[in-house]
Amino acid sequence: EKNGYEHYMLKEIHEQPDALRRVLANRVSTQGVNLDEIGLTAEELKKYSQIQVVACGTAYYSGMVGKYIIEELARIPVKVDVASEFRYSNPIIDKDTLVIVVSQSGETADTLAGLRLAREKGAEVLALTNVVGSTIAREADRVLYLKAGPEIAVASTKAYLTMVSVFYLLAVQFAKIKGTINDDEYMGLVSDLIRLPELASETIKVSEEKAKEKARYFIDYDNSFYIGRNFDYTIALEGALKLKEISYLHAEAYPAGELKHGPLALIEEGIPVVAVVTRRSLYDKMLSNIKEVKARGANITAVAIAGDAEVEKAVDDVIFIPECNEFFSGLLAVIPLQLLAYYTAVGRGFDVDQPRNLAKSVTVE
Ligand code: M6R
Repeated sequence: EKNGYEHYMLKEIHEQPDALRRVLANRVSTQGVNLDEIGLTAEELKKYSQIQVVACGTAYYSGMVGKYIIEELARIPVKVDVASEFRYSNPIIDKDTLVIVVSQSGETADTLAGLRLAREKGAEVLALTNVVGSTIAREADRVLYLKAGPEIAVASTKAYLTMVSVFYLLAVQFAKIKGTINDDEYMGLVSDLIRLPELASETIKVSEEKAKEKARYFIDYDNSFYIGRNFDYTIALEGALKLKEISYLHAEAYPAGELKHGPLALIEEGIPVVAVVTRRSLYDKMLSNIKEVKARGANITAVAIAGDAEVEKAVDDVIFIPECNEFFSGLLAVIPLQLLAYYTAVGRGFDVDQPRNLAKSVTVE
């Protein structure tokens, strides 16, 4: 069933363009975004004064991308909490809060407890989940299925891409309804969303060899840093989690502008640093952060937009991703980071699909 791939994880990485095709099918077309399946009228959508996302691990990081995109496009405040904290907090939510719980398996104990707490508080719960009929799907008020297909590897890959895509759909839809973007901007975003599957496929093609090569360097280092700004930072978090869970190497993700408030002290000759540089608005800031770590001897791998000669000059290696709408490039940037983690773990000889101490579905607290 691995279809000729050595591991499920690699197979699932390669299935990402198809997973994106499925999650977007019937939900976005040249006519626009259509989320009628959740049964919310424009009036109902407009009444939400805030959004609260609750999830764990990779699903939590997808919510962080959601926060940036929804706040930027639709101007609705979004709070994102890990479920194990949220469930024991006294959250300020009510009937005008849309709570979005995100879970590939739909069975994560903490996320389920968060869902129940939100409902007790009178909030509406929308679940993003991959498993039809899962407990979370059954207990939520509304569900958007991720349609990623079965994900077997413990390290989540294709489910993450579909989660982020659903946040994109929600952000674009909310923005349209709230009138925070005009018709041209709306149609521009829609046509870029439609291109995502094809761009993901191109990203795999252009980045795999490079990520594989660079993985050889990571094998020898116990510590690494992943840096980025704005939603590139959330991509850094997800990339670092992938490396930790399957290669057992420590990776720390940091907002690039925070380095000089502490971790810069840890940068020494040769230490691997991954820099995610897709935000045009923060390009210059990121470039100076890259130079800061380079000056202290770090070995930098950048994930940047194709043709970015300036970043290429400033770093040791660059993995290019195809040019696309600035809002969606983060999603593509995660793909080379998944591949980098995968090939590092393979190079270290570990059981990629079943990392020690971890389970695919965490149904106990
Ligand atoms: O099934 P869920 O999406 O609720 O799982 C949440 C996390 O346990 C999961 O994403 C975990 O962090 C992955 N192993 C990361 O690759």
